[in-house]
Amino acid sequence: MMELSNKRVLLGVSGSIAAYKSAELVRLLRKQGAEVRVVMTSTATEFIQPLTFQALSGNIVYSAWDDADRGDGMGHIELARWADVIVVAPASADLLARLRQGMANDLLTTLCLASASTIAVAPAMNRLMWDNAATKENLAVLKQRGIHVLGPGAGGQACGEVGLGRMLEPEQLVQGISGLFSSGILSGAKLLLTAGPTREPIDAMRFLSNRSSGKMGYALAQAAIEAGADVTLVSGPVALATPDRVKRLDVNSADEMYEAVMSEVAGSDVFICAAAVADYKPANPSKEKVKRKDNNVDLALTQNRDIVASVTALPDKPFTVGFAAETSDIEAHARAKLKRKGLDLIAANQVGDGQGAEVDENAMTLYWADGSQHLEKTSKAKLARQMVTIIGEHYRATTRT
Ligand code: CTP
Repeated sequence: MMELSNKRVLLGVSGSIAAYKSAELVRLLRKQGAEVRVVMTSTATEFIQPLTFQALSGNIVYSAWDDADRGDGMGHIELARWADVIVVAPASADLLARLRQGMANDLLTTLCLASASTIAVAPAMNRLMWDNAATKENLAVLKQRGIHVLGPGAGGQACGEVGLGRMLEPEQLVQGISGLFSSGILSGAKLLLTAGPTREPIDAMRFLSNRSSGKMGYALAQAAIEAGADVTLVSGPVALATPDRVKRLDVNSADEMYEAVMSEVAGSDVFICAAAVADYKPANPSKEKVKRKDNNVDLALTQNRDIVASVTALPDKPFTVGFAAETSDIEAHARAKLKRKGLDLIAANQVGDGQGAEVDENAMTLYWADGSQHLEKTSKAKLARQMVTIIGEHYRATTRT
């Protein structure tokens, strides 16, 4: 299995003799399915040529400030957003000090500062520099801020000394990087998810539907798998590939979605209703295709059953998460829905004006009975991972009580 498929790794290379090992790291990351872009500090370019990384990553290498605006439309903010993870390997003592200070005096430190992604550093330095109180303190602060530290290892050093401070071997780094994606917060949980639009038949050919692409629901399925859940996805008609290891059940109408959910929900620990279920369906759909000359299309509508509310009415209801796509008064509408539908959590976002359905990036706010958390605009894949972490924490908190 490729452990990093679809993952975007931004590899930061700083000035250390271990930089040569990062060339192999790029090769191994790509072998595991990752897309890799490399950013080098100017000192790093004295140890190894950008061309090496360009050839191995298949992408432009960024080093100077304006590199990030060169040719491929990746300004430095886009580059920071692009990454699922930023890995600084090797991370020199100087780079760690600058990260700790929140400095933005070159492209790499700026990207680290401007990114909401996971950051990992792989220190590489002489053993005395590693032992120095200043380095130790810098590392402690960085860890406290949630930056992951991979290594270092012990052994012979380029300077001839022996001790701690060697960068981990590329194989070990790939393992560490893969580990960053499997939070395990939903480990062992059975998760049921709906996604996509529904189609409500008017006749044999025509239907009523909506703009949902299913992207958010599919990203959630992927993120839940990464977090260790056993995922069943009830999907409306979408043009998306099924994420690895997800059990997918295809449905068309809201009625079919209702039936599929009700037959799968028993034993589910978490239910996420990300589908844009049509509220109404034609009351008298025709089995035949209605002919133009008939001039009698019957568009009388009747309400569909509320799937999520039916699930929360069950005696043994799972931890339930709904969505609210709103054009105005987001918090008020979301909180009202949270209550009305008996949800544990609701994810609300603004739709219209190019936001919401059909787009690749989104921002949203999660609301629960006594709190909320805003998630900044980013790719739906990243948003999904952040959501799954929050859902996992809340779910764990309820099962603990
Ligand atoms: N939902 C559902 N079944 C329906 C309608 C909606 O399960 N028949 C779920 C959606 O998947 C979503 C949540 O309920 O998680 C809120 O959907 P929304 O369409 O915003 O709710 P409505 O009750 O239709 O509210 P509104 O008055 O805004 O139309």
